[in-house]
Amino acid sequence: MAGKNVTWRLSFSASIVHLVYCTSVFAGTHPPPVLHKDVVILGGGASGSYAAVRLREDYKKSILLVEKEPILGGHTNTYIIPETGEAFNYGVQSYIDYKGAKAFFKRFGIPLQPSVLFASDTVLVNPATNQPASLPPAIPINESVAAIQKWHDLISPWNDQLLPGYWDFFSPSEIPPDLLLPFPEVVAKYSLEAMGPILAIVSGINISEPQPTLYVTKNFGTPVVEGFLENTFFDPVPFNNSLLYQRAGELLGSDVALSSSIVAGDRSVKNGFVLTMQNDKTGAQTTVVAKRLLIAVPPSVNNLAFLSLDDQEKAVFETWSFGSVYTAVLKTNLIPDNTSLAFAGLLTSSSPVAPGQFSFSANWNGVSGYYWLILFSESTWTAEQATAAILAEMENLYNAGTFSPTTGTEPRSSIAQISDHSSARWGQSAAQIKDGFIQDLYALQGHKNTWYTGGLWCPDYSSNVWAFTDTVLPKLLQGI
Ligand SMILES: Cc1cc2nc3c(=O)[nH]c(=O)nc-3n(C[C@H](O)[C@H](O)[C@H](O)COP(=O)(O)OP(=O)(O)OC[C@H]3O[C@@H](n4cnc5c(N)ncnc54)[C@H](O)[C@@H]3O)c2cc1C
Ligand SMILES: *[C@@H]1O[C@H](CO)[C@@H](O)[C@H](O)[C@H]1NC(C)=O
Ligand SMILES: *[C@@H]1O[C@H](CO)[C@@H](O)[C@H](O)[C@H]1NC(C)=O
Ligand SMILES: *[C@@H]1O[C@H](CO)[C@@H](O)[C@H](O)[C@H]1NC(C)=O
Ligand SMILES: *[C@@H]1O[C@H](CO)[C@@H](O)[C@H](O)[C@H]1NC(C)=O
Repeated sequence: MAGKNVTWRLSFSASIVHLVYCTSVFAGTHPPPVLHKDVVILGGGASGSYAAVRLREDYKKSILLVEKEPILGGHTNTYIIPETGEAFNYGVQSYIDYKGAKAFFKRFGIPLQPSVLFASDTVLVNPATNQPASLPPAIPINESVAAIQKWHDLISPWNDQLLPGYWDFFSPSEIPPDLLLPFPEVVAKYSLEAMGPILAIVSGINISEPQPTLYVTKNFGTPVVEGFLENTFFDPVPFNNSLLYQRAGELLGSDVALSSSIVAGDRSVKNGFVLTMQNDKTGAQTTVVAKRLLIAVPPSVNNLAFLSLDDQEKAVFETWSFGSVYTAVLKTNLIPDNTSLAFAGLLTSSSPVAPGQFSFSANWNGVSGYYWLILFSESTWTAEQATAAILAEMENLYNAGTFSPTTGTEPRSSIAQISDHSSARWGQSAAQIKDGFIQDLYALQGHKNTWYTGGLWCPDYSSNVWAFTDTVLPKLLQGI
């Protein structure tokens, strides 16, 4: 009987839930556990882990960080090379020295070093023949640097509108026309052609692809450009990118719920939320009463289904694009040391490829026989499908005579580990931006006490999502 009443009241008022569970009237009836928190943070990747640490340690708020994976860190992947015990990062690689990024490592006592970049020769493969493609004419590095400096000077007057996020983005009628032009037109207009190779290597952008120039400023904005020009990218010591998130997890302790998701949420209560969190392994449910909700997962309609989104939210969150992104550790005797492999014409995440087609690059990362691999596909692929596609392609490269075994006589390739990084992404047209997409997106900050951070809200780099999170927290905390 009591249980029934409670269920009804849960969706009615957070304060009644509080009253029911904080008095001893029902002692002995074993109601489901209820947690009371100032802020619930959904998603324990870069931005959510950072927000959780800052909210609890600096703002002294009670928090709960809910992460669906059994580990914090989002796009960070670290494999341990069995032969040597070395850490091998096959997700996030290096960090931009932007705002408080270094301080975040420092608070966990993690020393830093200049980025350990592994220079390698790239074998460019023609995907139609699996034979080496001719390399484009090399561009002298001084020419590339000069072009990138020109790009920097073009975009830096817009830093206030573009960084660390888009709170103060230009109103639709004031958007500089260059930001809406297809990038190849801006390249031609300002003679930026020599940027090409660096843009591809540092940000995975194909200079010929006709995306709105705004997106290039998102992926190759002044913090990244300055990191390149001033050589200030950095790595942790040891070069194990998972260490940071492990330390954050240890600090937060039982305020982190791993392998968990939120399956129901009620935003109609007066002073916040009543959320139902579920442990995805055991199925155990916990009721969480919270004053604020910080969404640090990609705000897709699927991810936020538990909130019963309203029309205003759906209209924005239905506009993302999707595709598959996997990272993997490729163990192979087919690629020589100090060599990376890339496919011509299918080099970047944003290259249009037909459904079922895919591209990957296998990157030398300093360990003999192991390659850090990133795969893009416009189709929704399982890890098994991605693994099969990569191994089939390695066989094609062997059969085409492009690579031969560096050790022994038989080709040997296997995927030691694979990780799904598929996510919602920008892909709105210039017309949608001109129609106020960014203003519509930001109008959702604080809507129904729900706040957001993460790579869909700002330039998508660890240091940048941390800096952006710093701008969200004071707003989220107003009134609590
Ligand atoms: C392959 C790759 C390499 C990268 N390399 C670099 C680099 O070298 N340097 C750099 O600065 N940046 C790099 N980035 C970008 C950087 O990783 C992102 O900017 C950053 O991770 C974005 O943080 P986020 O919190 O928005 O998302 P994420 O870090 O992806 O975190 C989102 C978290 O939410 C969880 N989640 C998702 N849905 C749910 C749900 N429904 N319920 C609960 N939890 C959920 C996910 O498991 C994940 O842990 C890289 C990105 C990728 C994909
Ligand atoms: C890298 O860090 C993670 C998290 O601390 C740890 O589990 C792993 O053992 C480390 N790997 C190496 C090789 O140090
Ligand atoms: C790059 O160096 C070459 C050879 O030294 C020189 O001719 C050229 O003008 C330089 N280009 C730029 C943009 O400085
Ligand atoms: C790979 O390159 C590094 C740095 O240039 C060099 O020290 C090393 O000897 C090279 N290894 C091979 C196998 O060529
Ligand atoms: C870049 O994109 C253009 C236009 O979509 C395409 O023709 C070209 O092959 C791509 N280049 C690379 C290196 O991927």
